[in-house]
Amino acid sequence: MAEFEPKILGFFCNWCTSAAADLAGTSRIHYPPNVRPIRVWCSGTVDPAYIIRGFLEGADAVVVGGCHPGDCHYISGNYKARRRVKLLKTIFEALGLEHERIYLRWISTSEGVKFAREMTAITNETKERGPNTLVKKWNV
Ligand code: FES
Repeated sequence: MAEFEPKILGFFCNWCTSAAADLAGTSRIHYPPNVRPIRVWCSGTVDPAYIIRGFLEGADAVVVGGCHPGDCHYISGNYKARRRVKLLKTIFEALGLEHERIYLRWISTSEGVKFAREMTAITNETKERGPNTLVKKWNV
């Protein structure tokens, strides 16, 4: 039987984490191809509804990636992202859903190595966790 290959949805801010992904690519740093990146202007623009929709559409994990605290190009968008992700995780936990499938990572432009390391770790953790069961639970 083929190994489970998770689908991981990544919302990465344009100025830091997307640039780190580009750096990892141009530096030929290897990481698993399971992450489907979506470039957003800022992690603060990621509405929790996008994350929920990702799971409903079959993502096995969702990662929000942004600039380090204090470095957001829109001053405080990443603090907003942090509050939103924390709130969503709390709601998932209260509903008995796996909040561990939601990740938030601060990865700056120069951190291509960190980007590859984090995506590898998230992929491995998601493989261990198995496929997303939210769609079944919500009967959609
Ligand atoms: S611009 Fe990167 S988190 Fe706001």
